[in-house]
Amino acid sequence: MEQNNAFKLAFLHLFCFLFLVSCQLDSKFYDKSCPNLTRIVRYGVWSAIQNDTRMAASLLRLHFHDCFVNGCDGSILLDDTSTIKGEKNAQPNQNSVRGYEVIDAIKANLEKACPGVVSCADIVTLAARDAVSLAGGPFWDVPLGRRDGLTASESEANKMPSPVEPLDNITAKFTAKGLDLKDVVVLSGAHTIGFAQCFTFKQRLFDFGGSGKPDPALDSSLLQNLQTTCPNQGDSDTKLVPLDSVTINRFDNSYYQNLVNNSGLLQSDQALMTDNKAASMVINYSKYPYYFSKDFTVSMVKMANIGVLTGQSGEIRKNCRVVNN
Ligand code: HEM
Repeated sequence: MEQNNAFKLAFLHLFCFLFLVSCQLDSKFYDKSCPNLTRIVRYGVWSAIQNDTRMAASLLRLHFHDCFVNGCDGSILLDDTSTIKGEKNAQPNQNSVRGYEVIDAIKANLEKACPGVVSCADIVTLAARDAVSLAGGPFWDVPLGRRDGLTASESEANKMPSPVEPLDNITAKFTAKGLDLKDVVVLSGAHTIGFAQCFTFKQRLFDFGGSGKPDPALDSSLLQNLQTTCPNQGDSDTKLVPLDSVTINRFDNSYYQNLVNNSGLLQSDQALMTDNKAASMVINYSKYPYYFSKDFTVSMVKMANIGVLTGQSGEIRKNCRVVNN
């Protein structure tokens, strides 16, 4: 009798273990069902970057904006319908987030190779990893098996961290997603590639915090250049400026060197130097690129785990822009 109970208990443990495992992401998830997955994604990202170098940055940002709203579930890719108000037209995304067509093209190739198998959420995650490594940054294994969300949230997308909000608020938004101050510092290093429109930092150039003067924390020669590129008039709002003007398209640690030199572009970038803990990490990454690369891969895997759908939740979309029916 006792032996029977012990057997039942062991079986129960095994069952729970298998159940837990099936609910976790795994980098080998598609090894059998879509063996060419990583090649197809990498080729799609590579060819997009050949056409447009900035696309590496845009794909990385797309992943961040996907994960912070409803989790990494491909919700950012959904177009508006009569029943779903999507995220694409939320203020932080509209005329700003790019890369949707690149994901569409990769998905179309995957539908030919392994129809109905790979989620859009996993494509976005892999594309971000490949974008970083093709821009000269680190490479890492991506746990896979995310499923696509059935809905999107414009209102949540409007709550994305803003470049003009205080570091404490930004950190609180990261903490609410299971990340921490270190992740804020490390993931902000993504601003080593890509561009920002003048309106996202213009306040710093002419009227910082309503003072009628520029931000004192901005290097004076960078200030002059930026005032020339982004004159104090509305028609310069959408002009583009590199987030890291030292190595514009290279994923390296010069973003942190810029911050040490008072040359961060966004107020939220330079704000990392106003907190003792954050500033000491910035100084460390500015000196030791190896630690930045290593920590970036860890924080990216963490971010890519936010609110993922697995098992039977959600779905595998055929077209990343629409929920299947
Ligand atoms: C910490 C809070 C963050 C804030 C306030 C912020 C804000 C911004 C803003 C305002 C832009 C320029 C958008 C435009 O002008 O259209 C931008 C661009 C960008 N962001 Fe962030 N960001 C943050 C964190 C992140 C994270 C965590 C990542 C990725 C891991 C990221 C990746 C990028 C990239 C790569 C670009 C350039 C995109 C392109 O050129 O298409 N950002 N960010």
